Amino acid sequence: MRNPQLNENGELTHLLSIEGLPRHILSHILDTAASFMGIADREVKKVPLLRGKSVFNLFFENSTRTRTTFEIAAKRLSADVINLDITRSSTAKGETLLDTIDNLCAMHANMFVVRHAASGAPYLIAEHLKRVRHKNIHVVNAGDGRHAHPTQGLLDMYTIRHYKQNFEHLTVAIVGDILHSRVARSDIHALTTLGVPEVRAIGPQTLLPAELAKMGVRVHHDMNEGLKGCDVVIMLRLQNERMNGALLPSAGEYFKHYGLTPEKLALARPDAIVMHPGPMNRGVEIDSGVADGKQAVILDQVTFGIAVRMAVMSILAGN
Ligand code: CP
Repeated sequence: MRNPQLNENGELTHLLSIEGLPRHILSHILDTAASFMGIADREVKKVPLLRGKSVFNLFFENSTRTRTTFEIAAKRLSADVINLDITRSSTAKGETLLDTIDNLCAMHANMFVVRHAASGAPYLIAEHLKRVRHKNIHVVNAGDGRHAHPTQGLLDMYTIRHYKQNFEHLTVAIVGDILHSRVARSDIHALTTLGVPEVRAIGPQTLLPAELAKMGVRVHHDMNEGLKGCDVVIMLRLQNERMNGALLPSAGEYFKHYGLTPEKLALARPDAIVMHPGPMNRGVEIDSGVADGKQAVILDQVTFGIAVRMAVMSILAGN
């Protein structure tokens, strides 16, 4: 069966997940993002690649970084950006997701950027658009449930490539609540596709999914062991909103075993970088001494996210 993100020529037509995307497409997105990096230093921070196109931001779940950087990215590409205020939309009156989509298509939408608590919602929209023959309308997954967050995965890869130049000799540790993390899933698919030889998952048994070994990931329950010799440490938030019941004794106990402190970070390589997709919970998964320390590249991730989202949208629009 054809990957629903690719058209008959193997070109990206939606970005729904990193899983199943070939390495050359990931590299092309990262290279295109690099070409957009200088735009922030120009007096006029705009290129006309999406002029006349309408990008609809549909965020059914809260967001600070993703929604804002998608809006900045679309505006830098000269698109018209419409941020649907879901709390004031007719969703609150019972309108279905696909009825909302049909109405926005009738307003000549060209692209939907979708965040939704339900895993698979962006796929549903992409399938629907195909069924109703809107083949020139593109869908970008901005995070669906615990499934995927592909642009976060891509901006994480951009950050790693920026600081480490290539992927071939790296050891990357992802720490924390991997079970509920769409970022972790997207990062793992991207890291393994781009050729990282050692990807480690560090966390308590209750927060690690069973399929990690099948995904090519080495599991560590002891953080001190898992951090040894790492080039990159990706910290994750406890996704309390997606947990059913208590999976941990307490936040304090969690921090003791899995919180990243300067002492624990000293076990990684001296030039290791520390990443976090945000939002951070200081004192729960990360100590402020690390979050604000010189090895942290957390705010750079946010900045790089603009160029990466410009790259994704311009490639989808055929540029
Ligand atoms: N990383 C991320 O998705 O952050 P937001 O929830 O603020 O968009």
